[in-house]
Amino acid sequence: MNKSDHPEPNIFVIFGGTGDLSWRKLMPALFDLSQDQNLPKQYAIIVVGRKAISIEQLISHLHQGVKKFSRQEQIKPADWKEFADHITYFKGDYEKSQTYTSLGKECEKLEKEWKVKARHIFYMATPPSMFGVIPKFISEAGLNKDRENVQIVVEKPIGYDLDSARKLNTELAENYDESQIFRIDHYLGKETVQNILAFRFANPIFEPIWNRHYIEYVTITAAESVGVEDRGGYYDHAGALRDMVQNHLLQLLCLVAMEPMVSFEADEIRNKKVDILHSIPPITKEQVPHSVVRGQYGPGKIDGKKVVGYREEEGVAPDSQTETFVALKVLVDNWRWQGVPFYLRTGKCLGDHLSEIQIQFRSVPHQSFPAESTLNWQSSRLIIAIQPKEGITLKIQAKNPGPKMHLRTVDMAFNYQDTFKTKSPEAYETLLWDIINKDATLFMRADQVEAAWQIVMPILDLWSAADFGDFPNYAAGTWGPEDANKILAQGQTWS
Ligand code: BG6
Repeated sequence: MNKSDHPEPNIFVIFGGTGDLSWRKLMPALFDLSQDQNLPKQYAIIVVGRKAISIEQLISHLHQGVKKFSRQEQIKPADWKEFADHITYFKGDYEKSQTYTSLGKECEKLEKEWKVKARHIFYMATPPSMFGVIPKFISEAGLNKDRENVQIVVEKPIGYDLDSARKLNTELAENYDESQIFRIDHYLGKETVQNILAFRFANPIFEPIWNRHYIEYVTITAAESVGVEDRGGYYDHAGALRDMVQNHLLQLLCLVAMEPMVSFEADEIRNKKVDILHSIPPITKEQVPHSVVRGQYGPGKIDGKKVVGYREEEGVAPDSQTETFVALKVLVDNWRWQGVPFYLRTGKCLGDHLSEIQIQFRSVPHQSFPAESTLNWQSSRLIIAIQPKEGITLKIQAKNPGPKMHLRTVDMAFNYQDTFKTKSPEAYETLLWDIINKDATLFMRADQVEAAWQIVMPILDLWSAADFGDFPNYAAGTWGPEDANKILAQGQTWS
């Protein structure tokens, strides 16, 4: 990481900073950045929350989170103290203008001490209902006068559907320039996800075959072995399509399918991705039954332990119709990808925790080996493993040792851990670093978010109108409903 050796002084204001996101992700990432000297020399972290807690309680709570989730093997007390000295707590009501005037004074005080104008990064780590509210108050309190030096960071979900996403984007645009708004999709901060661009566009050998002539189909899987954990209340109103497909999975698809960028400018890359979203024809209501499968987990076993079904989870309605699994087939209607299906699937309480993209190449045009040589034949397949074992594997045919010409599949593999001998930075570390450096490449632009909603809306509309009544339809610990295989063409497989 060396975008700028001396980033400008920053004041991070984290609304909802006493919550889970801050505990698990933001503070560990900021701490890791501090340990690698990747924070500005002068910085402050103002945690804004509604809880009545002391700074000592907050620091001790955050310390636990950093110990648990930071990338550092050991956290020296002196390093923690040095970092923690930058944190202050500010109790305030998000819907009272006084909160913002006082915050403004706090920022002014810091700038006076530092004798320099700082950049203000306002991070919404709050429930989504506050995403439109807080930025408006910030602006009304005059904290957005110097637009060059103010950024706002909005977490997902960006809207609940297309209309609400448009509404939120419009509200934000009333007070902020698009260049000030950083909408997070944390998948884009993952090392392996960023590496898709390097793999495709830094190695000229793949580009000539990266199209419908050589690629038969693509699968994108984001499987989780955990259930909804303590987020039942949120999840039951979201479901897998909103929670994972509208954002993370469609973004992965964009990176696989986009045209080469002309430069590494944020908008150039985002334009190329939006082109892909615009090339995906919305799945019509008539197509939904053949192209989309939804599921909900019932009780089952994961890692030998019994787990309850989704409807028994806390915060979930006992007759919930929310999907915890979705598989769908989309097409990309452009010159490069005409007729190549992209299959996406994601789910909770599945048989394993893994996210990966598989590119299935077409078979050879003419089979010249005798039939007995090719009993175990599989066409070449490329696997981009995003997590937990980050790497890229090309499965190819090779001759089995021995006098006979027998072919079998072997791996040409690149594994992050073995190659780089270091832990990859967490997605949030990369994203925070980019925010500090005002690099919006990995963040969602308003039109991207809306284009992605447009793709999933017909499915959501159909599902909200029909009571499917067949849930639960897969046992926890399996790979989802059997029907997920039916959307694949004959001979095709998810992995
Ligand atoms: C979040 C979803 O965006 O991504 C969660 O809201 C999901 O439901 C999570 O568990 C998965 O992210 P990761 O990085 O653990 O694969």
